[in-house]
Amino acid sequence: MTRILLISGSTRDGSTNTAALRTIAAVAPPSVRTELYAGLRELPAFVPGADPAEYPAVSALRAELAAADAVLICTPEYAGTLPGSIKNLLDWTVGTADLYEKPTAWLTVAVPGRGGGAEATLSTVLGYVGAQIVESACTRLPVLGADVGDDGLVGSAEFRSGARQVLAALVAHTPGE
Ligand SMILES: Cc1cc2nc3c(=O)[nH]c(=O)nc-3n(C[C@H](O)[C@H](O)[C@H](O)COP(=O)(O)O)c2cc1C
Repeated sequence: MTRILLISGSTRDGSTNTAALRTIAAVAPPSVRTELYAGLRELPAFVPGADPAEYPAVSALRAELAAADAVLICTPEYAGTLPGSIKNLLDWTVGTADLYEKPTAWLTVAVPGRGGGAEATLSTVLGYVGAQIVESACTRLPVLGADVGDDGLVGSAEFRSGARQVLAALVAHTPGE
């Protein structure tokens, strides 16, 4: 069993990024257990040197990261880079072993020509914290709002096929595989 933590960089209700991750969870094979991180809105602003024990939301994040064999991030781009909320999450992992050597990839759902700034920042920050970036799993699968059904999932066969390939590439780089 491979455990993959799915982290959306959007705090928006109706987010296409969160819908993409929800769909990835839905198509995951029985050998993959996914967890969709739900704490981004509640995560406090990073405080350098803070004792995580004083921040239950940070302790919960660290526990979810520790339990994960791999991490998949799906985030929008804001103002040419990452949304502050997910950069804040990543800041909490600086100087910890939370993401160190953790197989990590990102899925970009922005349309072609968009989202490159967010990807570049992810590459920089994940490199800085020592995550093992799984290049073969870093993928672009565009999702528009209209692609998300009433069930909150992306229905297209093309997206779902790509999503399965993302999972397979990530699983192939987890310890024991
Ligand atoms: C504050 C803000 C800034 C944005 N800046 C960019 C940007 O620099 N580049 C870009 O391609 N899209 C930008 N967008 C568009 C979002 O990336 C796009 O709406 C995305 O679908 C939002 O993801 P979500 O549906 O998961 O919330 C911006 C959106 C907002 C709200």
